Amino acid sequence: MSRPRKVHVKSFGCQMNVYDSNRMADTLAPAGFTETASPEDADLVILNTCHIREKAAEKVYSEIGRIREMKEAAARDGRHMMIAVAGCVAQAEGKEIIRRASTVDLVVGSQNYHRLPDMVARAQSGQKVVDTEFPVDDKFDVLAAPKRDVIAKRGISAFVTVQEGCDKFCTFCVVPYTRGVEVSRPVEKIVAEVERLAEAGVREVTLIGQNVNAYHGLESGGRPSTLGQLLRRLAQVPGILRLRYTTSHPRDMDDDLVATHAELPALMPYVHLPVQSGSDRILAAMNRKHTRRNYLDVIARLRAGRADLAFTSDFIVGFPGETETDLRDSLALIDEVGFAGAFSFMYSPRPGTPAAEMDHQVPPEEKSERLQRLQAAITRHQRNFNLGFAGRTIDVLLEKPGRLPGQLVGRSPYLQAVQVMAPAELIGSIKRVTITEVGTNSLFGTLADETRAPVLAAAGA
Ligand code: SAH
Ligand code: SF4
Ligand code: F3S
Repeated sequence: MSRPRKVHVKSFGCQMNVYDSNRMADTLAPAGFTETASPEDADLVILNTCHIREKAAEKVYSEIGRIREMKEAAARDGRHMMIAVAGCVAQAEGKEIIRRASTVDLVVGSQNYHRLPDMVARAQSGQKVVDTEFPVDDKFDVLAAPKRDVIAKRGISAFVTVQEGCDKFCTFCVVPYTRGVEVSRPVEKIVAEVERLAEAGVREVTLIGQNVNAYHGLESGGRPSTLGQLLRRLAQVPGILRLRYTTSHPRDMDDDLVATHAELPALMPYVHLPVQSGSDRILAAMNRKHTRRNYLDVIARLRAGRADLAFTSDFIVGFPGETETDLRDSLALIDEVGFAGAFSFMYSPRPGTPAAEMDHQVPPEEKSERLQRLQAAITRHQRNFNLGFAGRTIDVLLEKPGRLPGQLVGRSPYLQAVQVMAPAELIGSIKRVTITEVGTNSLFGTLADETRAPVLAAAGA
């Protein structure tokens, strides 16, 4: 065992980025690194970056500046601090990062986290180390598993990557370049990871992937499994009460997954299904491979199987060539589906993607005005969705202490935060909660009398 050192990992990106941050910390543990929440006293600071939009990438360089000051302060105290840049900006920019910010000691791409201990050892001896190759070996086979106490500290809800990369090549998106081709992990590896999490107290698992419903990992017999089959298998793991998955592509929503929603109680009735635009013309220019009609059909199929399903989505406004009519198509789609929430973004040209080179880029003021209109529509639906829960009794998975003494905070099936007065020993269990008040960011409720017949949850969209 090496001498004890501290690592601070900061995530800037999506859920997979957060999952990767944990796996990097786990992989460095055998080399003597323990995690610290404060960068100041860390021996190694890892910035796990996101490249999806301009602002996300720019944030990285201002953060490097901030950490550089800490590194200089540490050096004045005779302490050597290393700075690593990981994630999708690292994958896209590689050694350019060290050219632009010479304080950075190592750059590790999204497929090379298993090589970190060796890279850190080399950087320790003063070398600048860059590894952004897409390796032939599978990082998941080498990445160290977290210890039981580490899992427990991270809470009762965990992410597990089951699929990574993307072959869809939407014309606006960097992910196929920063995460590589679509790869699914084998079923048994995922089951083993979920069993380990459950044994350490995890009760809810969210399966993650850039195109998670394109999952086709092999079963031990060598047959490919669908995401639906994987979910059914994981629902049998003792201790696992809830399952979720994200992010799906409308084209990969197969009948088996639709049926799984109808039949598997542990699978939460809440689906994130990015559409990006309600205009067929823009969807074609985006190379989304689905039309507005296809999207609405997928929603109808899912709802036919399970009426209480609620949907969230992602929208982009100001894609090159987008007109007022196209925007109205998006606004109309929001009304037609009645989303429980959605993320919306101004189109951000990403270097090397086809859309960045397209004519008729939309001016920033126009994008910003359209974003406000779109967000107002989404907010209206989200508020209605939440207000529909007043007075209802729903299942809440209690997660951790709440804001007030004696209070716990949990999650509804729709990921709404629910604040409820309840004893700490209920953390990790699902309780019936009657919603008494709907706030802006949370629902408030009281524990329901469990002797009464349960009230079936129905979407209040
Ligand atoms: N794999 C997922 C999401 C990937 S990125 C999917 O296929 O939907 C998350 C979201 O970021 C996207 O859904 C999209 O809305 C947004 N996004 C991606 N590239 C963008 C860009 N260049 N400009 C603005 N938003 C973008
Ligand atoms: Fe990006 Fe499109 Fe792939 Fe999603 S499906 S990750 S938006 S290229
Ligand atoms: Fe960002 Fe990479 Fe995730 S670009 S959104 S961290 S896949």
